Amino acid sequence: MVVLSSSLLSFVFCLLVTIFTSEASTDTEIQVHNTTQNYHYCCDFNHVRGNYTANSTYHTNLNTLLSTLTSNTEIEYGFYNSSQGENTDKVYAIGLCRGDIKPDECRNCLNGSRANLTELCPNQKEAIGWYEDEKCMLRYSDRSILDLMETGPAFYANNMDNATDLDQFNKDVNTLLGNLKNEAALGDSRLKYAVGNTSGPDNKLIYGLVQCTPDLSGSECFDCLSQSIERIPIDCCKDRKGGRVVRPSCNMRFETSFLFYGDTAYVSPTPPSSTTTNTTSEVKSNKATIIAIAIAVPVVVFFAVVLIFFFICIRMRKPGEKFEALTP
Ligand SMILES: *[C@@H]1O[C@H](CO)[C@@H](O)[C@H](O)[C@H]1NC(C)=O
Ligand SMILES: *[C@@H]1O[C@H](CO)[C@@H](O)[C@H](O)[C@H]1NC(C)=O
Ligand SMILES: *[C@@H]1O[C@H](CO)[C@@H](O)[C@H](O)[C@H]1NC(C)=O
Ligand SMILES: *[C@@H]1O[C@H](CO)[C@@H](O)[C@H](O)[C@H]1NC(C)=O
Ligand SMILES: *[C@@H]1O[C@H](CO)[C@@H](O)[C@H](O)[C@H]1NC(C)=O
Ligand SMILES: *[C@@H]1O[C@H](CO)[C@@H](O)[C@H](O)[C@H]1NC(C)=O
Ligand SMILES: *[C@@H]1O[C@H](CO)[C@@H](O)[C@H](O)[C@H]1NC(C)=O
Ligand SMILES: *[C@@H]1O[C@H](CO)[C@@H](O)[C@H](O)[C@H]1NC(C)=O
Ligand SMILES: *[C@@H]1O[C@H](CO)[C@@H](O)[C@H](O)[C@H]1NC(C)=O
Repeated sequence: MVVLSSSLLSFVFCLLVTIFTSEASTDTEIQVHNTTQNYHYCCDFNHVRGNYTANSTYHTNLNTLLSTLTSNTEIEYGFYNSSQGENTDKVYAIGLCRGDIKPDECRNCLNGSRANLTELCPNQKEAIGWYEDEKCMLRYSDRSILDLMETGPAFYANNMDNATDLDQFNKDVNTLLGNLKNEAALGDSRLKYAVGNTSGPDNKLIYGLVQCTPDLSGSECFDCLSQSIERIPIDCCKDRKGGRVVRPSCNMRFETSFLFYGDTAYVSPTPPSSTTTNTTSEVKSNKATIIAIAIAVPVVVFFAVVLIFFFICIRMRKPGEKFEALTP
């Protein structure tokens, strides 16, 4: 699966979007990377965070942080955040695994990326890497990166093959990803992930996957994915059978006739978000049911109480009267 999909990557952009704002910016610096490996990374792309010196406190903190993060066996939902050190030597890190990746596989992936990233970005205070088709994402920085929606650096990739019946195809892709976006945004603080399929032209199944880092709010997740879906017709993968937009805070991918994800590894204990493409309507109808119940129950109880009081009053005010007729 991984091998197959890696061949689908055609070209890759490392696109710097303004770091501190949550909005996509046109003020971008584009780095072109070849997908020589089945991974993608960006070091301190804008040289804003700077370098640390070898064997400095920062270096030690980074090593400690990454080894703690990649050996954590308590987290089973694929999202890791941690920090280490004090003041200017403090390092922050985030690890995210795709929603279908089991905890042990997730740890292995993060551990591999750790070695890779520190080697590819030597002495850089900030770096981010995605490995094996976004199986995992690892990033670290000298600034706090938790609870922050960041859309850059991003990369886009697509399948070179064109789809058929393009109008219908593009519509289907848009509907599928839009539904998945809604579903993922409803996820909890552990998992914001949705996968699904829809039947496209020629009865070919189109598969979609979206995921946000679960520290985002629902609306941030929605916003991040909206920005990604918007890139499809612009510069990601218009008319293509497959494509992806990958950002620090969210990623999105679709492929035709090609399943590229497994069963969701972690099922959140809170209100289950199902994994079908019809979830928006399901969630809406679930909500409607809950609202209906929430309204109906008190109303019924209220009327029951009123009725009981009514009968009690009748009996008290006109004792016997109503029942006298019944007794001979
Ligand atoms: C990407 O790789 C191809 C050959 O595989 C090469 O021709 C091209 O120059 C490379 N592009 C960059 C930006 O490194
Ligand atoms: C940081 O190190 C890289 C190489 O490791 C170098 O290219 C870059 O100029 C350095 N940046 C600063 C601000 O010293
Ligand atoms: C850092 O420490 C390693 C071994 O702990 C040593 O090999 C290396 O030379 C040191 N680097 C610097 C710049 O001191
Ligand atoms: C993590 O990777 C390193 C090599 O970079 C390896 O020595 C170590 O055993 C790995 N740890 C785990 C828990 O897999
Ligand atoms: C990065 O990881 C890939 C596979 O995960 C490996 O083939 C490659 O050698 C690694 N590169 C570096 C520089 O560590
Ligand atoms: C896909 O369509 C584009 C134009 O829309 C064309 O340039 C490209 O060659 C096509 N790719 C294939 C594999 O047919
Ligand atoms: C981040 O880590 C801190 C401490 O390790 C933890 O208390 C917090 O719940 C984590 N936040 C998320 C969103 O995972
Ligand atoms: C497509 O999605 C439906 C739910 O909408 C699911 O039941 C079915 O198994 C999926 N098909 C494949 C091939 O994944
Ligand atoms: C999805 O919902 C639409 C309307 O809400 C319905 O017509 C369709 O049959 C549903 N598809 C599946 C697979 O449940």
